Amino acid sequence: MVSFKELGLVNTREMFAKAINGGYAIPAFNFNNMEQLQAIIQASAQTKSPVILQVSSGARKYANQTLLRYMAQGAVEYAKELGWEHPQICLHLDHGNTFELCKSCCDFGFSSVMIDGSSLPYEENIALTRQVVEYAHQFDVTVEAELGVLAGVEDEVQAEESHYTKPEEVIDFATRTGCDSLAISIGTSHGAYKFTPEQCTVDPETGRLVPPPLAFDVLDAIMEKLPGFPIVLHGSSSVPQEYVDIINKYGGKMPNAVGIPEDQLRKAAKSAVCKINIDSDSRLAFTAAVRKVLAEKPGEFDPRKYCGPAREEMVKLYTHKIVNVLGSDGKAL
Ligand code: G3H
Ligand code: 13P
Ligand code: ZN
Repeated sequence: MVSFKELGLVNTREMFAKAINGGYAIPAFNFNNMEQLQAIIQASAQTKSPVILQVSSGARKYANQTLLRYMAQGAVEYAKELGWEHPQICLHLDHGNTFELCKSCCDFGFSSVMIDGSSLPYEENIALTRQVVEYAHQFDVTVEAELGVLAGVEDEVQAEESHYTKPEEVIDFATRTGCDSLAISIGTSHGAYKFTPEQCTVDPETGRLVPPPLAFDVLDAIMEKLPGFPIVLHGSSSVPQEYVDIINKYGGKMPNAVGIPEDQLRKAAKSAVCKINIDSDSRLAFTAAVRKVLAEKPGEFDPRKYCGPAREEMVKLYTHKIVNVLGSDGKAL
């Protein structure tokens, strides 16, 4: 048993309370490797932003859960070395799908877990979430739950709305599960292809795809039902077109990649949305930088020569998100 407190990590309780009152959101960045983690910590330390390090099931398979936990512990020390006196770093399980997995993360140093029962029938989602909450709270580990299903590009356009979180369910769900935060579905989705071209309009000036707006009316209705309750947005990458262009220019093939416009995320961050999940944008920054170096210097074979620039690009990206989109800079002095 390893408590997150011994590792210098924090749970999300205080972070979220401050974020809601302050009208900003905490960045939740996924990490799978050292360069991503270094970039997240550099950006957070430089901007003094609280940060959530997210570990997905894919990350656990790729990098090993134990190693990732030690890396997060190292990240706290690294942050201090960078001059961040009181780092506020949370280690969070992203999309946990079983009680056993959430338990194992609570037992081994995670300060927050997500139990994603969103694909289960309502009552089963409640029962599973409640079980995780009862276990996690014994150790002061905070729990994120999910209600509503994130739309995917494979979904029928007509079916999208029925996947949104139903505001009439949120009081019952939050009360009966005791969860600390709630991930909702209002039109975001995972990955770099969030909308089909058919769902978008075309900007006449740039020729770029313009996605449909998020369902802020659903968010408003949820906030009315659960005033001051921490809300989470998954699938919130913006898919910067500069990165898509670089990737495509240097041998990649990402047609019609499109994300959530940043002005929509800025608006969400000012509301009860206090955690915004970003993974794909970091992958794009990394890939764009690596492709550019390898295309321009075909003889290069030292991974530091392309992972280094990739890390630099990710620092820029994370800093931009913190300062210009989420507004969490200066909130963890
Ligand atoms: O929720 C999805 C995240 O972007 C993680 O994806 O399981 O491929 O690491 P992953
Ligand atoms: P993106 O794919 O939009 O970055 O979303 C990541 C996410 O929600 C992780 O849980
Ligand atoms: Zn997610």
